[in-house]
Amino acid sequence: MAKKEIKINGDVFVPMISERRIKSRIKELARKLSKDYKGTIPVFIGVLNGSFIFFADLIREVAIDCEMDFLKLSSYGDAKISSGNVRLLKDLNCQVEGRDIIIVEDIVDSGLSMEYIRNLITQQNPKSFRIVSLLYKKDVVKSSMRIDYIGFSIPKDFVIGYGLDYAQRLRHLKAIYRLKKSES
Ligand code: IMP
Ligand code: MG
Repeated sequence: MAKKEIKINGDVFVPMISERRIKSRIKELARKLSKDYKGTIPVFIGVLNGSFIFFADLIREVAIDCEMDFLKLSSYGDAKISSGNVRLLKDLNCQVEGRDIIIVEDIVDSGLSMEYIRNLITQQNPKSFRIVSLLYKKDVVKSSMRIDYIGFSIPKDFVIGYGLDYAQRLRHLKAIYRLKKSES
């Protein structure tokens, strides 16, 4: 059974998306990706740290051969609202030119990180560029960027678990929880 409520530093989080729903949606996404990329060897690029659990689960459901690499960005620090200031903390080690690139992200919030990634990758002339994000905050996204594969569209609440952190904590939770109220 998933925990009912999670309390941390005066904030209360309640269940939002169960482990079972996440698993089943990931299977659907992987099926679609396997079909769309049949006959190619795409490079899946995970955005650290948040996407590491989603990435590991998604990739094991994908039925085609593929390569993997990781990028690390920083924009949030320990705050719950994006600073809007994106920095590259770890660059890619793979060759992008001529390859089918699939970015794997945990959540698209303002879309600024994804815009930064799109610029970084498209400058290197990939054959194709697509984005898969487990979560998408439909009311927040500022950029007009198209997210090709979305797990769940969610309201603008701050969420944790399944890779998503609260000041680097609670990433290990198996389900996704949303902030219910802030007591501070
Ligand atoms: P964006 O640049 O505003 O789209 O923010 C993207 C990054 O901020 C995501 O990849 C997450 O790592 C982090 N982030 C955005 N919203 C949340 C949230 O609700 N909880 C935890 N991390 C988040
Ligand atoms: Mg992220």
